Amino acid sequence: MEKIIDENKQGESLILEQKEGNSRKLFIESYGCQMNFSDSEIVASILSKEGFNTTQNLEDADLVLVNTCSIRDKAEQTVRKRLEKYNAVKKVNPKMKIGVLGCMAERLKSKFLEEEKMVDLVVGPDAYKDLPNLISEVDEGRNAVNVILSKEETYADISPVRLNTNGVTAFVSITRGCDNMCTFCVVPFTRGRERSRDPQSIIEEVNDLASKGYKEVTLLGQNVDSYLWYGGGLKKDFEKATDMQKATAVNFANLMELCAKAQPKMRFRFATSNPQDMTMDVIDVMAKYDNVCNYIHLPVQSGSDRILKEMNRLHTREEYFALIDNIKKRIPDCAISQDMIVGFPTETEEDHQDTLSLMDYVKYDFGFMFAYSERPGTLAGRKMEDDVPMDVKKRRLSEIIDLQQQHSHYRTKQQVGKTVEILIEKESKKSDQHWSGRNSQNTVAVFPKENYKVGDFVMVKINDCTTATLIGEAVGYSPTNLP
Ligand code: SAH
Ligand code: F3S
Repeated sequence: MEKIIDENKQGESLILEQKEGNSRKLFIESYGCQMNFSDSEIVASILSKEGFNTTQNLEDADLVLVNTCSIRDKAEQTVRKRLEKYNAVKKVNPKMKIGVLGCMAERLKSKFLEEEKMVDLVVGPDAYKDLPNLISEVDEGRNAVNVILSKEETYADISPVRLNTNGVTAFVSITRGCDNMCTFCVVPFTRGRERSRDPQSIIEEVNDLASKGYKEVTLLGQNVDSYLWYGGGLKKDFEKATDMQKATAVNFANLMELCAKAQPKMRFRFATSNPQDMTMDVIDVMAKYDNVCNYIHLPVQSGSDRILKEMNRLHTREEYFALIDNIKKRIPDCAISQDMIVGFPTETEEDHQDTLSLMDYVKYDFGFMFAYSERPGTLAGRKMEDDVPMDVKKRRLSEIIDLQQQHSHYRTKQQVGKTVEILIEKESKKSDQHWSGRNSQNTVAVFPKENYKVGDFVMVKINDCTTATLIGEAVGYSPTNLP
């Protein structure tokens, strides 16, 4: 299961409002996590000022950009196949230029140009503002690379142009990079050190989204709970900040409260949380504000203390349980989801049983599960042998996926009979007579359309469910819908 965000969206090309006077055509496609999809909106926004309009037709493009993911080998292979496809099109249209953005660009750097000769342009995640210069280099017939990672870049001053899929839900990035150094993970190498974005610019973006009719914002970062604004600079340099900077610093709980107050009629979500960085003041803000959704994506990766240690996850199984218990004590109906890795080096059958028993304890609402994929350059990649055979990984993976399905079903069944607030996002995939939206816990619900419309907050009585979907009928508008 190669799933971080909606599988249908992987490789989706971005189409934006056409700006008059722009004559060059940009085809931009994204893979991987939500952050990449958001970054592509930033890139398209930068290039729209450089004479580029987006196209969904690869054959028409003057410039093809692919925003890439390095998290597992399979993600990289998918991108390589796309590069082959672009090169086939380039044979017919030789003036077309090809560029690689994102994590693979950062990981492979100029290797892309030297060894593979498949691309003209290589741009890492912190260098998008340099694109106008890099493109002029390419226009003059030279290859161009910028993979410099930054201490400051948060793209706070660029207002991303939105891909208006539903006009209801949007993502706003609040931190970039990650300092956690989980031993399996390539992100600290491809996205650099952790830094937070100015809260003022975050609130401005949220207000702007609200004025355009958006109803839900997800605050995005590799590790959102670690958010810390003290005037700019790296998280790790906070120690060196002045007393004044320390006294006026804004942490994640503060930021969430600022958002919740700025737009009381808007819903807020956040992702992703690392258990070791999550604090109870965040849970308190969630409990205090109705418009902060009762849902936490809280990846644990393994249920075995020994493996957690090898992964450099800085908490034990017992500490994780204590955190879960505390969350449920304050917010009894809080939904929790996981990311899990099976087959990390040295993982035994006993370790795997610990993962299953941890899942039994928490009974997660949702989960994203993966077989370990060794990443070059990571600590595990350098120091540990990838010694769990593929067939064992596959069997363990299918065992945790089966268990997760049972738990998801258990959680959806608990909601049957309740009346819950749903924000309508779009038409149901299965029926044009039904709306589809999500409740606070992030579970999808479908119900007959009646006279409601996309963007409405509606109270829905849940009559039935499948493993992952609630089925109900509207009983009226939610108070949130009133002006
Ligand atoms: N903090 C990030 C995590 C990014 S990676 C976030 O914002 O979501 C997403 C998930 O991919 C991780 O939680 C982990 O479960 C999985 N993953 C990361 N590296 C992996 C690897 N080398 N092999 C298999 N799965 C991996
Ligand atoms: Fe990766 Fe761990 Fe950071 S999974 S993104 S190093 S929290």
